[in-house]
Amino acid sequence: MQASAEAQPNIALVKYWGKRDRERNLPAVGSLSITLASLRTRMTVRFSDQPTDTLIVNGQEAPAMLGRVSRCLDLVAGRNRQRAAVTSDGNFPIGAGLASSASAFAALVVAADEAVHTGHDRLTLARMAGTASGSAARSLYGGFVELTAGDGGIGLTPLAAPADWPLEVVVAITEEGPKPVGSGDGMIRSAQTSPFYASWVERQEADLVVARTAVSNRDFASLAAVSEHNCLKMHSVMWTSRPPVVYWNEATIGCLEAIRLLQAKGVPVFFTIDAGPQVKAVCTADAVAGVRGALDATPGVLRTLVSGLGEGARLVPS
Ligand code: PMV
Repeated sequence: MQASAEAQPNIALVKYWGKRDRERNLPAVGSLSITLASLRTRMTVRFSDQPTDTLIVNGQEAPAMLGRVSRCLDLVAGRNRQRAAVTSDGNFPIGAGLASSASAFAALVVAADEAVHTGHDRLTLARMAGTASGSAARSLYGGFVELTAGDGGIGLTPLAAPADWPLEVVVAITEEGPKPVGSGDGMIRSAQTSPFYASWVERQEADLVVARTAVSNRDFASLAAVSEHNCLKMHSVMWTSRPPVVYWNEATIGCLEAIRLLQAKGVPVFFTIDAGPQVKAVCTADAVAGVRGALDATPGVLRTLVSGLGEGARLVPS
């Protein structure tokens, strides 16, 4: 009745922002992401006759997250399941726009499925993870992943394996604390108040077509252009929400400027930013050292992390 799984966060290049169904946590738009390799979350789930579920995150009790974890376990193992002791260990900050919930829930469903021998297929597990955190569904798969949105539920398609197009990501950490507004609350606020929200949703399919084609042709310039455009559109929707949802700080903007200067010199790199102040610079392997040097030298950058692309969630020995 015990199993462990590991998963990595993913970074969306065409982003998810907005829900079509809050109850089922179904996204309003499709998205396209890359799964990382070196930022990792390991989840261990042990079902027993203990009286309540418990959750330890990086060695500390985490009651605030327990409700979401329990609901996700109900989906995988059924509501009549035994209670579970869940432990989570990660090698990167939580709740700071580094998609820690994506890797956590992806690993959780894989570990829980094994612990109770339910044998759900990968899409079913991805949909269960997606109920807890929309982006988590993508971390069930490796490399380049497209998530399609629909009223009947999400679909997932792996577009290319990590080795097919081995891009690298340099993450510039500009703040370590938790974010001011959770992504779920931010999305609801945007849908209710941003005058740009409807056109954001309406234009998403066009961006997905461009990004999907760029991945299939390994067309870096095209992927760069659509990713930056899509990211800035999402943040425009956030900024024009009432009250505004602003995750950036001065160093975030400094990183965008550093990346723009690299691009002007012909370096193959582009940025993306999620619900947090960190900047993710996507580049080719030969550009990593220069990109990392430029971001490390940007005022306000606390440190950088580098990751290649990695595989989807998988079982590991307990
Ligand atoms: O999965 P959630 O609810 O944490 O939402 C993630 C939203 C973004 O990271 C901003 C975009 C994305 O597609 O990952």
